[in-house]
Amino acid sequence: MNRRELLKLAAAGAPLLAGLPAARVAFAQAPPIHKPLPPEWFIAHGTNAELRWEAVRDLGRLVPAERFFVRNHTRTPLIDARTWRLGVDGPGVRRPLSLSLRDLERLPSRGITAAIECAGNGRSFFGTQQGTPAAGTPWRLGAIGVARWRGVPLGEVLERAGLLRGAVDVLPWGLDDPYVTGGVDYGRVRRPLPLGKALDDVLLAYEMNGHDLPPDHGHPVRLVVPGWVGIASIKWVGRLEVSDRALQTAWNTKWYPGLGVQPVKSAFELPWDAALPAGRTRLEGRSWSGAAPIRRVEVSTDGGATWRGAELRGSSRPYQWVRWELPWTARPGRHELLARATDRAGQTQPQTVPFNENGYQFWAVVRHPVTVT
Ligand code: MTE
Repeated sequence: MNRRELLKLAAAGAPLLAGLPAARVAFAQAPPIHKPLPPEWFIAHGTNAELRWEAVRDLGRLVPAERFFVRNHTRTPLIDARTWRLGVDGPGVRRPLSLSLRDLERLPSRGITAAIECAGNGRSFFGTQQGTPAAGTPWRLGAIGVARWRGVPLGEVLERAGLLRGAVDVLPWGLDDPYVTGGVDYGRVRRPLPLGKALDDVLLAYEMNGHDLPPDHGHPVRLVVPGWVGIASIKWVGRLEVSDRALQTAWNTKWYPGLGVQPVKSAFELPWDAALPAGRTRLEGRSWSGAAPIRRVEVSTDGGATWRGAELRGSSRPYQWVRWELPWTARPGRHELLARATDRAGQTQPQTVPFNENGYQFWAVVRHPVTVT
């Protein structure tokens, strides 16, 4: 963590730390991410941790919680599930509710296997590939993970609160510290979710891969909004405000404006700048799209001059990634490996994408450098 990030953290934590003798001690006790971050699994980015693609190689379809990427605006709060409550209120509901975790667990539950991916995943390539760097966490392609989530459909809870016909948005509020940046306090992390998606397949999830949600991923309850930008999946949710008009927060105006469904992307299960031995090898990777399952993946081992179809390993399902492979006879030298996926909604990864200041949704084909010796 650099000095600027530390100062930013100090600012964000100021109210909490008031009255404590030394901020340093408090940081030692409360790092921004709770779980260990072994360098062979993660690339550290301040309050965030990126998945290493070379470490994905030995994973199946699901990423275990201890290896799942983390994106925190401030730091992971430690919330006592016994006293936690979820408030449901606002002009869009007839009966405000206050639910305990036990109350939630008694409601009908559903499971879904779905990716959570940051809208900024791939951001660093705006700079390195297109020559126009974007501000923000310099993710390569590791701001994504797929897990099996279980919880209560958001619609079940809204229905019990007596959803009114005039309801428009659901605003989930996170219980983490208010987000302060550039001297401005933007309040709790919260982003309006249109009612159509809220009633479709969104979960109030309390389980990840068959266990209680761990602290870093939203304990005790988070939203899981399948196929959408990660910011929609608010962690540590404490309140659902149901509005009768379209809502605006900094998270759908200043940041992530207009973003919903995630585009199609691909990654190789290789280190960045991988060193590979010459000879016959097998290239492996994954492709995913928030819109639809993957139809096909093409790979180029000559910098984009020629393409071959990769073999999909298993079926491609909505909201997940599909694994693929391709044999390659690697000759000594520097190479750029490219993977280009097409989803069943008909979107194919483009060569370049238009620039946006915050570096969201870099879904162009990534040129992955390798050296063969
Ligand atoms: N929810 C709260 N309350 N605070 C946050 O900082 N980060 C969001 C989202 N939900 C965030 C949040 C972003 S930008 C992403 S990409 C996902 O959580 C990341 O989820 P993960 O940390 O479980 O991987």
